[in-house]
Amino acid sequence: MHSSTLFTLLATGTTSLAYTIPANLQAIYNAHKAGTCANPLSGTSSSGAVFCGDIPNAIFLKGSNGNYDNMDVDCDGADDKVGDCSNDPTGFGETAFKDTVQSYGISDLNANIHPYVVVNEPPFFDAQHFGLKPLSVMAIVCNNQVWYGVWGDTNTEPTTGEASISLAQLCYPNDHLTGDNGHGPKDVLYIGFLDPTAVPGKNGAKWNANNVSDFEASIKALGDRLVQGLGTNNGGGGTTPPPPTCSWEGHCAGASCGSDGDCSDDLTCNSGVCGSSSGGGGSAPPPPTCSWEGHCLGDSCGSDDDCSDDFVCKSGKCSVDQ
Ligand SMILES: *[C@@H]1O[C@H](CO)[C@@H](O)[C@H](O)[C@H]1NC(C)=O
Repeated sequence: MHSSTLFTLLATGTTSLAYTIPANLQAIYNAHKAGTCANPLSGTSSSGAVFCGDIPNAIFLKGSNGNYDNMDVDCDGADDKVGDCSNDPTGFGETAFKDTVQSYGISDLNANIHPYVVVNEPPFFDAQHFGLKPLSVMAIVCNNQVWYGVWGDTNTEPTTGEASISLAQLCYPNDHLTGDNGHGPKDVLYIGFLDPTAVPGKNGAKWNANNVSDFEASIKALGDRLVQGLGTNNGGGGTTPPPPTCSWEGHCAGASCGSDGDCSDDLTCNSGVCGSSSGGGGSAPPPPTCSWEGHCLGDSCGSDDDCSDDFVCKSGKCSVDQ
């Protein structure tokens, strides 16, 4: 059977648990599928994809003309050899941000429970340079649905398009995906958000959930808000998407540069591309934006009314209510 026929049959048969794709995200999916990435942030992976900066305030995996990326199955972390992971050829007993999730009250992420995406680390790609935060919520468009996951593991190899077994089975419940059997077609859109509020932290997700549905439900509201924040003007059907915004147009995240002085605001020049500065404690997040300038995340306030949008006033600073 031709794979697109199979795709359609499955998509129409398994929508009961699915999260419907919001219109703006569907427009983004449609707009960026054709063509190639105008703003590549990495080299090309073994599945033919690059990390791409064409969607403002986001990073996504973009394949060649007509493609996004495939979905390989990852079983790393707690219980890495149970159930559908028993045949995983590459299982590894821990995930990259284990120390952080231990401070959230669990021993490690569990690929059977936590829907996580693997995003690369150097030398292939340094996601944190571009402002993606470990354990931040990501959106995954697959099988005509959207699911939310977290950036939960890393990979130094030039391979991309890898998700935990629980996320793979949410996307493709009827495909018998296992640790050794992934989703081949390059139609999966993985989006990471360059938004400091994309990190749910200890209390913003049910890290000790017993099953994937329970964990997924705990990050849905945050995921929906992040997707909504991508806006509606990312479409543009074939035209070049708008460049990322910052105060010095053409010198924003993803623009090429020779030195820090070529990059707007607090961005620095990393390997020839403007991005957020890396390096531990001192790194400044991108300037927060919101609908009421001067009343955004981190601005000082006396009460909730001093803060834009849904932000609340906590300890004198506008913060995310969670
Ligand atoms: C997932 O866990 C929650 C909380 O323990 C429970 O209420 C729910 O029935 C479980 N769902 C599945 C599908 O097992």
